[in-house]
Amino acid sequence: MYTSDRPVILLGCGRLGSALLEGWLATGTLAAERLIVLTPSNKTAAEAARERGARINPPEAVLAEAASLILAVKPGVWREASGPIAAALAEDVTIVSLMAGVGAHSLSSVFGKRPVVRVMPTTAVAQGRGVAAVWSNHDNARAAAHALFDPVADTVDLTDEGLIDAATAVAGSAPAFIHAYVEALARAGQAAGLDAEAASRLARGALRSAGAGAETGAPLSDLIARIASPGGTTEAGLKAQAEAGLDATAMAAVQAAVARAKALGN
Ligand SMILES: NC(=O)c1ccc[n+]([C@@H]2O[C@H](COP(=O)([O-])OP(=O)(O)OC[C@H]3O[C@@H](n4cnc5c(N)ncnc54)[C@H](OP(=O)(O)O)[C@@H]3O)[C@@H](O)[C@H]2O)c1
Repeated sequence: MYTSDRPVILLGCGRLGSALLEGWLATGTLAAERLIVLTPSNKTAAEAARERGARINPPEAVLAEAASLILAVKPGVWREASGPIAAALAEDVTIVSLMAGVGAHSLSSVFGKRPVVRVMPTTAVAQGRGVAAVWSNHDNARAAAHALFDPVADTVDLTDEGLIDAATAVAGSAPAFIHAYVEALARAGQAAGLDAEAASRLARGALRSAGAGAETGAPLSDLIARIASPGGTTEAGLKAQAEAGLDATAMAAVQAAVARAKALGN
């Protein structure tokens, strides 16, 4: 829980920034009056926060009050977006970067000696059910990130910044990989005779059911074993999917996302 009296600045209110705003306000992690949102265009989540007392694009002098700056802009624009505000920030502000591919070293080239923490969350923070990898060299910065993300995500500390790219692939990007798999399942269901709507609803329901199982915290192997009775239909499907290259598919997706994160670094 975030206990500082000082505000938090959210730079960027797109898909992830909006999800965070929603999650923080829904869980009471942060009182709306503690929030400053910097956004070039109107956003529904920012307007909802404004109604509850958040400050949207306030005068620059206000930025000096903040204890943390959350960078939720795209890696390609962060320098341009941060440049104008860096000088207005307090010297002790914690830089919390959610960006894929932008290293602490690059961040320090703009923010100087201010402590940096990198966090890689999923957009399910909006529902208070995300997952977030956290890395920092600074204990206080890591603690600040935990105060902001523990209420909305299962936070996983990384010991090495080099692992952030892998965490980005396995957590930040992977919900999309899984949704794409569910779409493929629905197409396979159609090929097996279901109509499009039934196939889609059944596949989404399967995703929800898998999610409910995962939420129990039981080992994934146990969750699989509970469904796959020996000699049954699930076992046959699992065997076919392994033979068709499930591991190779997951490996290719993770390796491509890691490579992309490295290429984004600037
Ligand atoms: N989406 C995810 O699931 C996810 C997961 C983990 C990490 N991330 C990271 O989160 C970051 C944002 O991703 P996203 O998916 O949320 O992207 P997005 O939807 O494109 O949001 C980026 C936002 O940045 C805003 N922006 C651009 N220039 C700005 C400026 N000068 N000042 C303030 N805001 C500015 C844009 O405003 P306009 O809309 O007005 O152009 C846009 O709303 C990325 O670095 C990404 O690596 C995303």
